[in-house]
Amino acid sequence: MKKINSLEDYKEKYLESVQDPETFWSNIASTFSWQKKWNQILDWNFETPLVSWFKGGKLNITENCLDRHLKDKSDKTAIIWEPNDPSDSPQFISYKELHYRVGVAAQMLKNNGVSKGDRVCLYMPMVPELAIAVLACARVGAIHSVIFAGFSAKALSDRIIDASAKVLLTADYGVRATKKIPLKEIADQALEKCSTIEKCIVYKRLDGNVNMDAERDVWWDDEISKVDHPSSAQQMDAEDELFILYTSGSTGTPKGVVHTTGGYMVYAEYSFRNVFQYSDNDVYWCTADIGWITGHSYIIYGPLLAGATTIMFEGVPTWPDAGRFWEVVDKYQVSLFYTAPTAIRALQAYDLEFVNKYNLSSLKVLGSVGEPINEEAWNWYNENIGKGNCPIVDTWWQTETGGIMISPLAGITPLKPTYATLPLPGIQPCLVDTQGNEIVGNDVEGNLCVKFPWPSMLRTTWGDHERCKQTYFSTYKGMYFTGDGCKRDKDGFYRITGRVDDVMNISGHRIGTAEVECAINTHESVVESAVVGYPHDIKGQGIYAYVICTGFNDDQQMKKEIIQQIVAEIGPIAKPDKIQIVSGLPKTRSGKIMRRILRKVAEGDTSNLGDTSTLLDPSVVDEIKAGAIH
Ligand code: WTA
Repeated sequence: MKKINSLEDYKEKYLESVQDPETFWSNIASTFSWQKKWNQILDWNFETPLVSWFKGGKLNITENCLDRHLKDKSDKTAIIWEPNDPSDSPQFISYKELHYRVGVAAQMLKNNGVSKGDRVCLYMPMVPELAIAVLACARVGAIHSVIFAGFSAKALSDRIIDASAKVLLTADYGVRATKKIPLKEIADQALEKCSTIEKCIVYKRLDGNVNMDAERDVWWDDEISKVDHPSSAQQMDAEDELFILYTSGSTGTPKGVVHTTGGYMVYAEYSFRNVFQYSDNDVYWCTADIGWITGHSYIIYGPLLAGATTIMFEGVPTWPDAGRFWEVVDKYQVSLFYTAPTAIRALQAYDLEFVNKYNLSSLKVLGSVGEPINEEAWNWYNENIGKGNCPIVDTWWQTETGGIMISPLAGITPLKPTYATLPLPGIQPCLVDTQGNEIVGNDVEGNLCVKFPWPSMLRTTWGDHERCKQTYFSTYKGMYFTGDGCKRDKDGFYRITGRVDDVMNISGHRIGTAEVECAINTHESVVESAVVGYPHDIKGQGIYAYVICTGFNDDQQMKKEIIQQIVAEIGPIAKPDKIQIVSGLPKTRSGKIMRRILRKVAEGDTSNLGDTSTLLDPSVVDEIKAGAIH
């Protein structure tokens, strides 16, 4: 399938995709390998909501990621694995080998009782076996649910229970910089509460010195060695579920975003190829973790569907030193590089010597994802990494959208720092005011919605379709609501301004304020808490927690315990940067916390707190202002 190759071509394709979306997408879908063609291209109703693409079409996504490439790319490297420690050996896995290993792992899953439709949770470090396990699930038609290996036991068990998963895959340990993360021990704690788990398959990343439950736990290597033939691919309907990925929203409990097979496949590949302008000899590296949607769509599925070489990196950007990313770019001659603004801002703080000692001339395209990129970081990335020669694709999208929605196409769309620019073909964004009226014309600002279905959109939230309807399809009638605020400039370019709901974006991680509050409130001395995000130089947003406590003596000790509680309930990613112990929270007479005031205080801007006349007890605000942490 050809790439979009000019701005005129883009405009033409965009117009086609809006005028006749069904023909547009069926032409693209026809380039994949289907066991049986679909009966209906699109069926949709945003009220219900119901969306289906390519219904009746039969396929297996792994045949498209793997088998399809064996004819002409069998010896091409599919995955380059770069270990945490640069002195350890990398791995190069060809398409032929990956095909074989996925088939074997799929058979191992079957031997352990997994069949089509079963949920399999993966709580693993960034090792090739994680990608292999994801694909093995897809091969047997099991629904994978990857849980980021930085989450706590409680967060892990909540997700396993919500999905009623049958099997958990984990590892003895994970390694990150100089830290050893006891994944199996955390999993053991989680599994105490998970009655649906029948088997736990453990990959040995280190010495394997962990507890094993004789009835439940087996070693990955032992189980692999018992397999005598790789599994064939299960036939799936285009609308059969491919995966669940939990993400934060406005309430305390994360929701399981569900993606299905056919539409996700078509859009993941299409967006990858066009946004990065991928060509056959590119070496592509996305630095995300597979525990997030970026890793699903743009480390595994998108690149493998396109037959690309994709790098999987186990380490961190600043260890052994701040040159680690650039060392890897140089070593593998990376041409397409995709990372998060938070990483750029962190690296920007170090001496340029860490960049300049490497040869970065292989780079052609730079990408950014996960949060708004500020102009300073954009310029640093452009000048020092791209040397002014590499277009930066600022890609806006979400777990729910499955793939990149608004982004420049590298080298084609004119760039404008901090702007995600234009929608991909097939994507129909619109801005609405608070009443839900569409704001037409340019040079306007509003809440970002999408008014027509696209192939990789979420289909439901696992086990609770009503929640999907309420969260995404009820705020504005007949539209998918993203939760983001957005500007459209005079040229029709989009700039995402950040969340307009109670979701924070901490280092590119989505964390609900309610989730952190729930975690804090589980501490026995906590009466109530309120959490807000505030601007943070490196993380984009930091977490500021206001907490009412009783029966404690020592402020510092109390704060320490609150942090421990959050780490236990969610994980280290949700640690607050600032905790202020207060005697009350600013509430309206109806008992609603006025977060606007708390946000202002956290931002350090107390000169104008707006209308406080509806406050039940205005003196609380003075106390909070006086004790604010800056
Ligand atoms: C934010 C990550 C500005 C946005 C792929 C969105 C962005 C949320 C950008 C989704 C961007 C993502 N510019 N903001 N280029 N990309 N966001 O589900 O607020 O982890 O709603 O998906 O990240 O985060 P999620």
